[in-house]
Amino acid sequence: LSQDKVRIVEVGPRDGLQNEPKLLPAAIKIELINRLSETGLQTIEATSFVSAKWVPQMGDNSEVLRGIRRAPGISYPVLTPNLKGFESALEAGAEEVAVFGAASDAFSLKNVNCTAAEAIERFKPVLEAAKKNSVRVRGYVSTVVGCPYEGVVSPQAVVKVVTALHEMGCYEISLGDTIGVGTPGSMRKMLDEVTRAVPAQQLAVHCHDTYGQALSNILTSLEYGIRVVDASVSGLGGCPYARGASGNAATEDVVYMLHGMGINTGVNLDKLIEVGRYICQELGRPSESKVNRAWKGP
Ligand code: HMG
Ligand code: MG
Repeated sequence: LSQDKVRIVEVGPRDGLQNEPKLLPAAIKIELINRLSETGLQTIEATSFVSAKWVPQMGDNSEVLRGIRRAPGISYPVLTPNLKGFESALEAGAEEVAVFGAASDAFSLKNVNCTAAEAIERFKPVLEAAKKNSVRVRGYVSTVVGCPYEGVVSPQAVVKVVTALHEMGCYEISLGDTIGVGTPGSMRKMLDEVTRAVPAQQLAVHCHDTYGQALSNILTSLEYGIRVVDASVSGLGGCPYARGASGNAATEDVVYMLHGMGINTGVNLDKLIEVGRYICQELGRPSESKVNRAWKGP
């Protein structure tokens, strides 16, 4: 694996903050994204164009996307569940969006109020409109190893959704362990099937750390040739429709591990640590990143 490169997709401003009960001012979200833009990250998920009735914390989506300083070479994708969300995102200047499906119907119904198959139908016009407007589309599949309502999810169910998103034109598909129940064992069973259906070069992993397995699961995905890893600064986050789900793998911890393996991420860990400390101070809580808590400099 040495000499290798991994691209990190920073999801803190979206996945990290969407579950915050107290509304955070847009100015702080903008400052967070601007500071993340200085760390060497190439992809920073900025917000989501979902219903503010469903996710109040993302109700300032346009203000945030319009307010950030866009650095050259950095992509700022936003979530769009349907055409309405896509149109608002486009109006606010989105150049990349993400559609999000699920491998389990029960989760899909709670999250987006329709079945997994119906969600895919809603993505079709999004992909068409995106193509017309030269907007890149990333895809997510949630509950790839476990569902908070249905329990174990079969690799075949994941393959079905991943294949649909791939055929629809998503340039990359991120495999979400939404509630962090996966282990290298269940990840392998899933990845054995999924990497047979879609090349690893077009896959990413999105591991929540609820059960403390995120780094192990990321390491497992690297064995399969996956080189794009979602992470959230200081481990912020969770999904409002998956009760008990904690944040993603902390970006600081992922970067520390990868650099220790001789893998290049382009991220300056010192600067990232500072951003983690900034947002945790704003939120008034300690960092969920062990590396951040331990860090005394390189
Ligand atoms: P719905 O109620 O079924 O939608 O919600 P509808 O089409 O029936 O419309 C109802 C109302 O919502 C209408 O307004 C629409 O205009 C409005 P009204 O006439 O009542 O005033 N509406 C919208 N407003 C703003 N933006 C939109 C939009 N669409 C319709 N895009 C909907 C369907 C998808 C909108 C809703 O269920 C929703 O917003 N859900 C939120 C889902 C969400 O954000 N979940 C968290 C992100 S996913 C995640 O965290 C997992 C991930 O991290 C990966 C992982 O960890 O596995 C990605
Ligand atoms: Mg997530």
